[in-house]
Amino acid sequence: MTLLIKNAIIVNADKLHSKPQDILLEKGKIAKIAASIPEGSHKIVDAKNKLVFPGLIDLHVHLRQPGREDKETVETGTRSAAKGGFTSIFCMPNTTPVIDNAMIVEAIINEAKRVGLVNVYPVGAITRGQMGKELTDMAELKAAGCKALSDDGKCVESSQVMRLALEYSKMIELLLIQHCQDHTLTAGGVMNEGYHSMVLGLKGDPGIAETVIVARDIELAHYLKTKVHLAHMSLKRSVELIRFAKSQGIQVTAEACPHHFTLTDEAVKGFDTSTKVNPPLRSPEDVAAIREGLKDGTIDCIVTDHAPHTKEDKETGFDNAPFGMIGLETSVGLTMTELVHKKVLTLEQMADRMSAAPARVGGLATKGKIAEGLDADITIIDPEREWEVRVEDFWSKSKNSPFVGRKLKGRVEVTICGGKVTYQA
Ligand code: DOR
Repeated sequence: MTLLIKNAIIVNADKLHSKPQDILLEKGKIAKIAASIPEGSHKIVDAKNKLVFPGLIDLHVHLRQPGREDKETVETGTRSAAKGGFTSIFCMPNTTPVIDNAMIVEAIINEAKRVGLVNVYPVGAITRGQMGKELTDMAELKAAGCKALSDDGKCVESSQVMRLALEYSKMIELLLIQHCQDHTLTAGGVMNEGYHSMVLGLKGDPGIAETVIVARDIELAHYLKTKVHLAHMSLKRSVELIRFAKSQGIQVTAEACPHHFTLTDEAVKGFDTSTKVNPPLRSPEDVAAIREGLKDGTIDCIVTDHAPHTKEDKETGFDNAPFGMIGLETSVGLTMTELVHKKVLTLEQMADRMSAAPARVGGLATKGKIAEGLDADITIIDPEREWEVRVEDFWSKSKNSPFVGRKLKGRVEVTICGGKVTYQA
């Protein structure tokens, strides 16, 4: 099977190629890039007037399988990912049962291969059952296919457990992703603590619940001379702490979600439970700082934290609804509309934050760039295409998005994974 992309304006993190080129994909790899490649008997994809990015990579997705297949499955979640332009995703371990042993990791990888749309890398739990006490068998999880470990959905709160986890993961060279939220400080908060929580009469989650863990884990990484990756950063103060840590040479990396660079806590005003998310939507100053952090590279990656929930689960009072919103199918549109068209990020920076950097952080050496010899994972985007987010268009099994009705500019046209077209608009 060969596939030839014609007239490609290639956007790599290190270079936007202004002259159109042809890209030949063969046996799952990028075989050749040249000014003109004869059409021969290849299947053709014409990318005229579109932008051709390296396949997008999302380090933070909840697929819900096993256990909550009513919310999402590997099949529906990877269909949603392909529609959103993603060719590789990391799926979080807060399933039922928790992804804390090799058997579950292998089952998810096998199911993803059977569906055949997106490369899925299960994130193993740091602690057994995500209980925060006993470390998982990290070497076993790595051998089964994990590229990273996290207790996401929950924070590793014990400093001693986090220290041991960082020491072991350093030894076996596995990335640790921390969900930064001290639950003794969130203390039942359901939205950002501030003016809006006061007016709405909802219990507030204070920013320090995030920043005390950010600061602590930076200190642990510094002391242990190891890496740590901080999930879904939402605060100005977190960006400042990470910027300072990076200036000191501490090996910290971080990610942020489109909802945290787009929405403020004012969005909770109508009590729409799709705006209930962990960490919560924050203040305008925080949104501006997340944008600034993405621009200067303090925040390495854009991730979705795609968190599907059923209508039944979300259609309850704000206090009782589960945290989370879907994000795979709106990430490119929001990033282009809010960051690229508003000149916060250049196209090359978008390619970095959505592909090259996640490949680097997640240890995917053959991905994140369009170059001969690398994996044939490609995302073709029409930067000018305007579209509206509509519930009926979501391919995710769940529809819990606060962006329904929003008009966006920039749309995924074609997704190619391993040389195969996995989505075409
Ligand atoms: O809002 C969230 N939902 N944040 C998380 O960290 C977990 C996620 C979920 O699993 O629903």
